Amino acid sequence: MQKPKYKRVVLKLSGEALAGDKGYGIEHTTISSIARQIIEIVGKGTQVAIVVGGGNIWRGVAGSQRGMDRATADYMGMLATVINALALQDALENIGMDTRVMSAIEMKEICEPYIRRRAIRHLEKGRVVIFAAGTGNPYFSTDTTAALRSAEIEAEVILMAKKVDGVYDSDPINNPDAIKFNYLDYIEVLNKGLAVMDSTAASLCMDNKIPIIVFNLTEEGNILKAVMGENIGTYVGRQEHAQ
Ligand code: GTP
Repeated sequence: MQKPKYKRVVLKLSGEALAGDKGYGIEHTTISSIARQIIEIVGKGTQVAIVVGGGNIWRGVAGSQRGMDRATADYMGMLATVINALALQDALENIGMDTRVMSAIEMKEICEPYIRRRAIRHLEKGRVVIFAAGTGNPYFSTDTTAALRSAEIEAEVILMAKKVDGVYDSDPINNPDAIKFNYLDYIEVLNKGLAVMDSTAASLCMDNKIPIIVFNLTEEGNILKAVMGENIGTYVGRQEHAQ
């Protein structure tokens, strides 16, 4: 059996990724498809931690743009990620995958608190760990959570699931002539203001040398391809490490 390229990964799922075509809430067939793809890579021997967003339920930034207090709006977003984490846990456990949800904001009746060494232990035991409630702080995105948790658990790569197949020089949905990048250095993401992730997250990845693979989640089998080291989507990192 071909061995996976990565032994420990963080999969970053946006909240919208769980919504399917509806754009809102959680779609059963979509979340089931994601769960199947995750089980496939765990079966190859890769340890998987997931950071999930909450934008399918509530967007902190949008709330604050409408005049809400930013910190309050962000806390609502963090709670939305917990809803998504529980839905993912349910979808994974339905198909026999052991999971542990760990929240950055303590809510012991619902899930475990985030404890770094315990998260690593769960991964070593072959459980999928789902990180909920972002970093527990307002003003930080779930992209930043993915970067932070990756550094903490020493993940080798962040698999950044999107609805498009990589990073483009302009929005490929609105501009049919948009050009896709196969490789990008972190500094290009920052300098060009590319919409891969926010600048806090990109800087954290750059400083800690965590590569990011941006790929299309809607094509089933892509998570496996990324983990096996196939050249899909856009690789963000240092040139010498590019695929
Ligand atoms: P091991 O120590 O490796 O056996 O890990 P474990 O997670 O199986 O052991 P533990 O006895 O800590 O947990 C048993 C179950 O309780 C698991 O489903 C955990 O997710 C859950 N659990 C553990 N701590 C908490 C907590 O603080 N809150 C909630 N809600 N569940 C918890």
